[in-house]
Amino acid sequence: MLRSEDLITATNKHVNHTTNKLLLMTASVEDQISKLREQIMLHNSSYYTHDNPIITDAEYDRLIQKLQKLESKHPELISPDSPTQKVGGTVLDGFSKINHEVPMLSLDNVFSSEELSDFITRINNRLNVSEEPVFCAEPKLDGLAISLLYQNGQLVRAATRGDGNVGEDVTHNVKTIKNIPHILKGKEIPETIEIRGEVVMPLAAFNAYNQQAKDQGEKGFVNPRNAAAGSLRQLDSTITAKRPLAFYSYGIGLIKNGVLANSHYQRLLQLKEWGLPVTDEIELKSGSKGCMEYYHSLLELRDSLPYEIDGIVYKIDDIKLQQQLGFVSRAPRWAIAHKFPAQEQQTTLLDVEFQVGRTGAITPVAILEPIFVGGVTISRASLHNQDEIERLGVKIGDTVVVRRAADVIPQITRSLADTHTTSKDIVFPSHCPVCQSEIERIEGEAVARCSGGLYCVAQRKEAIQYFASRKALNIDGLGEKVAEQLVDEGLIHNPADLFALTTEQLIDLERMGPKKAENLIRALTKSKQTTLAKFLLALGIREVGEATAKNLAEYFLTLDALKQADVETLQEVDDVGEIVAKHVEYFFRQPHNLEVIDALINAGIHWPAILPKEQKALPLAGKTYVLTGTLNQMKRNEAKASLQTLGAKVSGSVSAKTDCVVVGESAGSKLTKAQELNIPVIDENELILLFQTHNIE
Ligand code: IVH
Repeated sequence: MLRSEDLITATNKHVNHTTNKLLLMTASVEDQISKLREQIMLHNSSYYTHDNPIITDAEYDRLIQKLQKLESKHPELISPDSPTQKVGGTVLDGFSKINHEVPMLSLDNVFSSEELSDFITRINNRLNVSEEPVFCAEPKLDGLAISLLYQNGQLVRAATRGDGNVGEDVTHNVKTIKNIPHILKGKEIPETIEIRGEVVMPLAAFNAYNQQAKDQGEKGFVNPRNAAAGSLRQLDSTITAKRPLAFYSYGIGLIKNGVLANSHYQRLLQLKEWGLPVTDEIELKSGSKGCMEYYHSLLELRDSLPYEIDGIVYKIDDIKLQQQLGFVSRAPRWAIAHKFPAQEQQTTLLDVEFQVGRTGAITPVAILEPIFVGGVTISRASLHNQDEIERLGVKIGDTVVVRRAADVIPQITRSLADTHTTSKDIVFPSHCPVCQSEIERIEGEAVARCSGGLYCVAQRKEAIQYFASRKALNIDGLGEKVAEQLVDEGLIHNPADLFALTTEQLIDLERMGPKKAENLIRALTKSKQTTLAKFLLALGIREVGEATAKNLAEYFLTLDALKQADVETLQEVDDVGEIVAKHVEYFFRQPHNLEVIDALINAGIHWPAILPKEQKALPLAGKTYVLTGTLNQMKRNEAKASLQTLGAKVSGSVSAKTDCVVVGESAGSKLTKAQELNIPVIDENELILLFQTHNIE
C-alpha cells in the first residue's frame, strides 16, 4: 500500500526537476493537501461511521499531522471542510438524529514534551501571563464519546458525537450500560445538565470476548475502542445489553438552572457525588513539569488500568480561563491530548516460516518488514496455527497490524482490508520442514505436529534444551547453541547421551574451550541429584508442566508407581484431566521413552524419597521418638501407636538422629545416652499433654 509519505516524496522529487519551481510547488502542495484530505475523509468514514478502521490509529495520526503541517505552512489553503477543521464522524442510517446545542468537539494532539511546552507557551502568550497554568490531567480513554442528558436528575437522552453538531440517538442502548445512573442522587442537581464522557469496553471483558470468539473461530473485535463503538451503535439494544460496557464522565456540555464550581476538577468530583462514574486517575498538575510527571506515572500504570487508554488529556482547570481561551474550529484551545507511543503499527507480511517445537508442534511464524511498536522493533511474530491464519484471513504480502502491549508477545491482530490483490496464500506444509516426516493434525486439536518424535532433529534440539532448562535439570551452560551443536555433530541423540559426554568432545565445540567444557561436565554431574518432580518435568511429557509434574510426584511418590498408572488412576491426581492422563500414559507405554529413562537412571540420576503427603502434613512428621522405662497411664504399644498417628517414627535405640526421648519410671541407659547427646527428654505427663494438644486420648 502506498503511504502518504510515499505520495509526498514522489511529488517533491517531481518538483525538484522542474524549472518553474514556485508555480509548480503551489500546485503540488494543493495536490498533496487534497490527496491527504481525501485519504483522511475515507478513514474518518471507516473509523467513526462504520466502526471498521482500515489503518492503525498511529498511521491515522501521522496523516493528520502531515496535513496540519502543510496547512499551517499554507494557511491560505485551509478550508472549512478540511478534516483538520471538523470532527470525524457522521450519523448512521437507522438512528434518529440529535442536535448538540453545545458542539461536541475533538482534541488536538501532542506527541512529545517539546510539543506540550509549545502548547503551554501558546496559552500563556494568549492569556498574557508568565506563570504556567494548573491543569486537570486525565486519562484519555480509548472508546466512544457520548453525551448524556439529565432533566431534573433523570436520564432522558443519550447521543453519540457524530460530526460534533449532529449525533445519533442511542438512548436505549446507553440505558443498558450498568454504571450509568438513570437517576442522579444528591443535592443541587441542575434542572438540565448534559454530561459528556467516554463509553469503553473494559479490557478484561474485551479479552474474554475475543478469547471466546477465537475459540469459536470467529473474528472478534479489532481493539477495545472498536468493541465499544460497535456494541453501542447497534439498532437492537438487546445486543448492546449483552456487551459489558462502562462509562466515565470527563466534562459537562449544556447546563440550565444550576450552579457549578469554577474548577474543572471540582466539577468532576461533583459529578461523582451525583453518582456519575469518573476515573480514579484524575489529578491537578502545575505547568509542563507537573504534566510530564503525570504522563510518566500514567504510562507506567497503563497496562494495569482496567481500560485501554491512548494518552493523557490536560485541561486548564480554571473555567474562566477556559472561556477566555475559547475554541478553534474543531478543538478547544484550553485542552490537549498527549498521546502515548502507539501499541499498534502496520507493516507488511513478507513471508511465513514454519517452526518445529519440542513436542513437534508446527508454528507458523510471520516474517515482517521490521516495525517499531510498543518500544521495540518487531520483525517476527507467531501466527499460532492454521486456524489463526484462517481467522485473520491473512496472506503473504498483506499489510497487517502488529500489536504489542508491554510485556505481551507481539501479535498480528488483523490484516487490513483491500490489500489482497498482490497477496499470496499461506500454504501449510504437509511434511516437517526439518525432518520431512508427515505432519499430523488430530481432529479437534488446533495444533499440527511433526510425527518424527526424537528422530526429528528440531524436536531433539528442543527436547535437550528443555531437559537442561532451569526448572527441569538446571544444567548450567547447556543453552540453545550448545544443544544445537551437540545434536548437529551427532554427539547426542537423546538426553541420556548427555551424561556420556567427555570434556574432550565438548572442547571442540564452537565458543566452548577447556574451561567452559569442564564447567559443563561439572554441571552435568551436579544435575544428577534432583527431585522426582524436576525429573518428570525434564522428560518433556506433553501437557506436563511444573505444577502437574509436582502433583504427579506427590501422588505416586515413586517413578515405578507412575510408570504403571493407567488413565483412570492418573486422573485421581490434582489438576490431571483426561487429556493430560492420556499423554502421561502414552509416554510411559513407549519403549524408547522407557529406554531413555533407564539410561538416565543408570547414568546416576537420583532423587530423595518422597514422604506421603498425609505424613508430611502430620505434626510430628519426620521426627524420631524413643520410649524408655515403664509408663503408668498407658501401655507402651498404645503410646507408640499414638506417636505414629501423629507422624513420628518410634525407634528402639537412642542416637544423634533421635528428636525426643519419652522417659517412664526406672529408665536406664537410654536416658543417660539422651542426656549425653543433649536430646530433649519428656516424661509421661508431658507425653499425655502432647497427645491432648493433638486431640488424641
Ligand atoms: S475532553 C472539548 N477528556 O478523546 C474537549 N476527551 O480525541 C473534548 N476522550 O472526542 C474532549 N478521554 O472521545 C476529553 N478525559 C477525556 C477523554 C476524552 C477520551 C476522547 C473523546 C474525544 C476524543 C478527542
